[in-house]
Amino acid sequence: VTVYIPCDTTALAMGADDVAAMIERGAEGRQLDIELVRNGSRGLFWLEPMVEVATPEGRVAYGPVEPADVADLVSSGLFEGKQEHRLAQGLTESIPYLKNQQRLTFSRIGITDPLSIADYKAHRGFAGLEKALKMETQAIVDEVKNSGLRGRGGAAFPTGIKWQTVHDEPPGQKYIVCNADEGDSGTFADRLVMECDPYMLIEGMAIAGLAVGATQGYIYLRSEYPVAHRIFNEALRLAYNAGYLGSNILGSGKHFDLEVRLGAGAYICGEETSLLDSLEGKRGMVRAKPPLPAIKGLFGRPTVVNNVLSLAAIPFIVDQGARAYADYGMGKSRGTLALQLAGNVKRGGLVELAFGTTLRELMEDFGGGTLSGRALKAVQVGGPLGAYLPESQWDSPIDYEAFASFGGVVGHGGVVMFDDTVDMGEQARFAMEFCSIESCGKCTPCRIGAVRGVEVIDRIRAGTNRDANLELLSDLCETMVDGSLCAMGGMTPFPVQSVMKHFPNDLTRQQA
Ligand code: NAI
Ligand code: SF4
Repeated sequence: VTVYIPCDTTALAMGADDVAAMIERGAEGRQLDIELVRNGSRGLFWLEPMVEVATPEGRVAYGPVEPADVADLVSSGLFEGKQEHRLAQGLTESIPYLKNQQRLTFSRIGITDPLSIADYKAHRGFAGLEKALKMETQAIVDEVKNSGLRGRGGAAFPTGIKWQTVHDEPPGQKYIVCNADEGDSGTFADRLVMECDPYMLIEGMAIAGLAVGATQGYIYLRSEYPVAHRIFNEALRLAYNAGYLGSNILGSGKHFDLEVRLGAGAYICGEETSLLDSLEGKRGMVRAKPPLPAIKGLFGRPTVVNNVLSLAAIPFIVDQGARAYADYGMGKSRGTLALQLAGNVKRGGLVELAFGTTLRELMEDFGGGTLSGRALKAVQVGGPLGAYLPESQWDSPIDYEAFASFGGVVGHGGVVMFDDTVDMGEQARFAMEFCSIESCGKCTPCRIGAVRGVEVIDRIRAGTNRDANLELLSDLCETMVDGSLCAMGGMTPFPVQSVMKHFPNDLTRQQA
């Protein structure tokens, strides 16, 4: 009997190791020889720890399993895949949350053992790399361009055009840098990739290296992800041993080296130029653009800086062809997006969908509404610098351009839900406070503006010169949007302005 128990941070935090130990003990008690696979998470977090058992019909799921449930589960036929227990969820693939997704990037997640190269290959792993090794560099870049893939870190710049810029720079040392400093509130998709399907990122980066002529890659990983660090480093070691990385990839004579560097917890190091400073061993400070990193990046050399999810989409695109990816989506938003449901939500987790679904469908059909059972009041999409969206905007399709038309951002796909007990005035203050703490300090609108922003909001909430201070807050937001050097100061006003526009009473309600 094969039993699957996830090993990613979420499952571990919910007690997956204890559950695994209890299940092994339960099998011993029945003198049953089981194979226990520590797979990645399926991303159905509300069911974690989710235990799966292989049956002739497919895997069946049980969750959320607590150690205290195991004895009962075993006696009601867990190892036989019986579905009588209250935690039984039926065939995993038939759970609507999973079944109704379009998983292209996350197709293997939760299915395979993250560190098994054999398992990865059995699910089309490394097929993209093997194909890329036989392609002209321009053909690889063209494939990425034609797929319509846009930067999944948040800025949505066309990935193929970025690669073209680096490709066209004269030969010499070039770099591939993966931004794994996943700092947005409510996001975890980068972590899931690194913990649950690490070879996909390795493969994507190796293909990027082949395409633009870079022989060295770095993954800039946030230190808050120790499990990802451990699993990914182990995957690197195994990939080197198996010849997928190093000086002679699969005997082709081409080479690509890859290593992980840890950040130290600064949000701003997720901004690409301060990330590069930090990688170079300096304090992470934003650099003025131009020059673009694609021309003068790491150590002054042409550098592709892509988010984990952008690079993770590459193996599928190269293996299955640009068309297969571009067939999903709407308008100029092609392919799929890894939406991450968090906050006050009944069924939090990862939902990969083609662009075009509405927020309401996502929050209701997948999320099941709020965890508290109260009415949903606002949703913040795209991290702490994204606008708070009121109900009138929940029927908009999730699409970069559609969101931009009303001042929203899709960003990295984080969706944080709030019920009607939230004080939106406090949320507006939090945006300014967050910026005042995380600002790198290089430019005045952000460094000083965020501190003044907190003070002005405090005065408004205290009822001091309210009208004058509201006007001042508007001016300050405009100044930060127009005058900041990077998105940190430039986007901090978005949540504030959205509260002023859609939830004005919360902002002006006098505090006790
Ligand atoms: P940006 O608009 O300045 O740049 C987008 C990307 O395109 C950059 O990599 C830039 O170097 C590149 N680029 C632009 N023109 C190019 C050309 N001609 N050739 C080659 N490359 C070119 O955006 P920025 O400031 O890098 O990112 C802001 C975004 O980051 C925001 O939209 C926000 O949603 C997102 N963000 C993501 C976070 C996360 O945790 N993933 C955290 C905070 C913000
Ligand atoms: Fe630094 Fe803020 Fe200016 Fe960005 S906007 S460069 S974080 S001070």
